[in-house]
Amino acid sequence: TRKIIIDTDPGQDDAVAILLALASPEDIEVLGITAVAGNVPLALTSKNARIVCEVAGKPDTRVYEGCDRPMARELVTAEYVHGKTGLDGIQLPDPTMPVQDTHAVDYIIETLRAEPAGTVTLCPLGPLTNIGTAFQKAPDIKEKVQEIVLMGGAYFEVGNVTPAAEFNIYVDPEAADIVLKSGVPITIMPLDVSHKALTTRPRIEAFRAIGRVGEIVASWTDFFERFDMEKYGSQGGPLHDPTVIAYLLKPELFSGRHINVEIELQSDLTRGMTVADWWRVTDRAPNATFMGDIDADGFFALLTERLARL
Ligand code: BDR
Ligand code: CA
Repeated sequence: TRKIIIDTDPGQDDAVAILLALASPEDIEVLGITAVAGNVPLALTSKNARIVCEVAGKPDTRVYEGCDRPMARELVTAEYVHGKTGLDGIQLPDPTMPVQDTHAVDYIIETLRAEPAGTVTLCPLGPLTNIGTAFQKAPDIKEKVQEIVLMGGAYFEVGNVTPAAEFNIYVDPEAADIVLKSGVPITIMPLDVSHKALTTRPRIEAFRAIGRVGEIVASWTDFFERFDMEKYGSQGGPLHDPTVIAYLLKPELFSGRHINVEIELQSDLTRGMTVADWWRVTDRAPNATFMGDIDADGFFALLTERLARL
């Protein structure tokens, strides 16, 4: 089993990613879930993370609260996508499980220092504030990370929050820059991948057929997809964040290139753009595996099969 920390700002798609991880204990051990401000403010992402653990029937999962705003910018949220609660689509009971006392950044640092080097994978599904702050505060932990598998950025699909930038990177580009320059092995699931993982009708009906958890997931995706369907005229919504967990379970579903990826920090026009050297036109050293394609049917089959275990 692979030990992971999920760093997240739920978000319906984050929620499905958490469920996928918690549904796969033989492959993945979720050491902790760290909440960050992003889609909605921190108080809600923390609450939503715990709601999701309870939906999964895993109230013993440790949830930590992290940074409530980006490292150097004002927080930008996305209620227009995810609804006021961040998890609109179905009314679920408030969580009864506790938040841990430790700050998420300190938890990440302590965990990486305590575990053997190269045995913990970080899975960021939101702005990279918690990870960037941890790397800045404790640079020694960088060499202890096995891998970072994150959802963020775009190349051919370019932006979803501005014409140039994807939301997670846009919200905290300084944190993303620290992570991309960290020297840690990084795998990126950009919009180029997630915009191919669409919640079409048959895929959602397959979720519904599972039972209670599938119904909840379908209610979330029904709410979430309306935004992208109206915007792009697509067949469903992009299930961004679960691609990160699916990659841990079945990397063969994805293909990409090991290339150089830099973050734009200066320009107001292109703030947070992931400048990905897909065609290797520079001699800048590769620092990330940037995925470009997904076997979407295989991805949804995996998701449905795992969610049915909850
Ligand atoms: C990313 O932004 C959020 O809205 C989603 O949860 C996902 O992590 C997609 O750009
Ligand atoms: Ca997210």
